[in-house]
Amino acid sequence: MLKPSDRAAGLLLGEGVELPEDVLLGGHVIIHDNARIGGGCRLQDAAIIGRRLGRDLDDPRPHEPTVLEPGAIVGCAAIVGEGAWIGARAIIGDRAVVREFARVAEEAVIGQAVAVSEGVEVGARSRIQFGTNLAPPATVEEDVFIGPGVVTTNDPTLARLGPDQAMRGPVFRRGCRVGGGAALLPGVEIGEDAIVAARALVTRDVPAGTVVMGAPARVIREVAAAERTGPPR
Ligand SMILES: CC(C)(COP(=O)(O)OP(=O)(O)OC[C@H]1O[C@@H](n2cnc3c(N)ncnc32)[C@H](O)[C@@H]1OP(=O)(O)O)[C@@H](O)C(=O)NCCC(=O)NCCS
Repeated sequence: MLKPSDRAAGLLLGEGVELPEDVLLGGHVIIHDNARIGGGCRLQDAAIIGRRLGRDLDDPRPHEPTVLEPGAIVGCAAIVGEGAWIGARAIIGDRAVVREFARVAEEAVIGQAVAVSEGVEVGARSRIQFGTNLAPPATVEEDVFIGPGVVTTNDPTLARLGPDQAMRGPVFRRGCRVGGGAALLPGVEIGEDAIVAARALVTRDVPAGTVVMGAPARVIREVAAAERTGPPR
């Protein structure tokens, strides 16, 4: 049950919320039951933390804790779903949606209006730009860059998936970079340090350290050694 709080204008708090004094709060923030907000977090106007999906609202079980580690920032009107985990100093942009049980590691940046689907993991320091969607079960390793408006898909049958067939989400290996407007067919893997050109249509796996371009995307060259990530941090 949400209750008004006098900590900030329009603030609504659920039961069992941990909210240290040094958290900065905009107006009309909503924090659902059992959420744990770390020290120094910033929750901007109308941010919603720990949202339970409408289809589950009559589930009698208590909310799974939604966790924001210290220094995380959640932008205006962004939604962080129940059970999600946001790492230290990560940024969730305005109007982004981080769905239930997703995990966004430390210092990752989820851009404005990005959709991180249920249970998806985003690695440390990875950056995802405006309007991109991450279809489940996507994997994003660390130091990945995904440009604006990238479309990922997970259902090769376009909504005719049989009971024995599983969704196949995209895999972004460490240090790979994807240009704006690229589209990825279900289950493709972008190899370590690979580059996908803007607007490419990726129909098959991209080998590590290569640049692909076009529709369908084809390898055009190797990524220069100086542009590759070093050993894991
Ligand atoms: C893939 C990419 C890195 C290639 O860069 P590059 O190797 O320096 O390529 P160049 O700019 O020298 O172009 C080489 C050729 O490829 C073409 N080309 C470049 N990018 C292209 C693309 N995305 N799709 C199709 N053709 C492309 C150029 O027109 C040029 O053709 P030409 O030789 O006939 O004139 C770059 O073009 C790209 O797509 N960058 C992504 C930018 C982006 O989306 N950033 C996101 C953050 S805003």
